Amino acid sequence: MGTDRMKKICIVGASGKLGQYMVRHALERGYEVVGVCRESSVPKLAAFEGRITVVPGPTNDPEVIRKAVAGCDGVLTVLAPWGVRQYSSGTAQAVLDHARPGARLVFSCGWHITRDGKDKYSRLFTAGVRIAAVLAKLVRAAEIDDQVEACRRIFASDTRWTVVRGSSLEEGESQGLPVWSRHVGDPVLASNLTRRVDFALFMVEALTDDTLVQEAPAIVGRRTPSAVAHA
Ligand SMILES: NC(=O)c1ccc[n+]([C@@H]2O[C@H](COP(=O)([O-])OP(=O)(O)OC[C@H]3O[C@@H](n4cnc5c(N)ncnc54)[C@H](OP(=O)(O)O)[C@@H]3O)[C@@H](O)[C@H]2O)c1
Repeated sequence: MGTDRMKKICIVGASGKLGQYMVRHALERGYEVVGVCRESSVPKLAAFEGRITVVPGPTNDPEVIRKAVAGCDGVLTVLAPWGVRQYSSGTAQAVLDHARPGARLVFSCGWHITRDGKDKYSRLFTAGVRIAAVLAKLVRAAEIDDQVEACRRIFASDTRWTVVRGSSLEEGESQGLPVWSRHVGDPVLASNLTRRVDFALFMVEALTDDTLVQEAPAIVGRRTPSAVAHA
């Protein structure tokens, strides 16, 4: 789909850090933006008042999503595994069910998600994810397994999806569009660092990049040593 056909988009999880960067990039491109966030987080979008439409509510509520994605050409979804009530998979399912047929659907997650099992993780990374998953579930803060389930459903769908797998993130000024590879473990990704503003840029650019349809790119900052070395 060319940029000219991408007019109205929905950002699910608009009030978070990644979400707010995506709102900025989308407005810069002249898109009409509908943002979804929890009712208590609406004030976090005050800077965009009058420029975006906000649909308040839980992102895993099918009715909230149905209303928000109506008429949208693309949907950007922040998959967050918070809580222990299938928040990620509920959010993904609602988007898959209610976005209009043919809409571009772009989801965010981390490197720990694997599409084909061919990613190569360091022992440290795997142990870190396992420990974080157990601890987070123990204190009922997050359900990393549910983000895995969300992505399993997306990968199995015949929609025009992209799952963007983010490396470790940092704040800072944009360094431009991150580079990507199909598999974690590919040398270009070794630096494992991306600016959050550029993660958001990649998500928004993916809306109009048909080469990313049904791909799960793992990204890294374009000025990181590994990206520069393999340019
Ligand atoms: N953080 C990392 O190092 C990292 C690394 C790789 C990939 N990623 C991926 O990047 C994306 C954004 O992550 P982020 O860490 O940068 O966070 P973020 O952009 O701040 O997004 C967090 C999202 O989760 C929502 N949220 C927070 N607590 C919640 C709760 N208790 N119940 C429901 N929703 C809640 C936030 O909404 P409110 O505004 O309402 O709080 C926001 O939409 C995610 O898909 C993540 O998997 C992150």
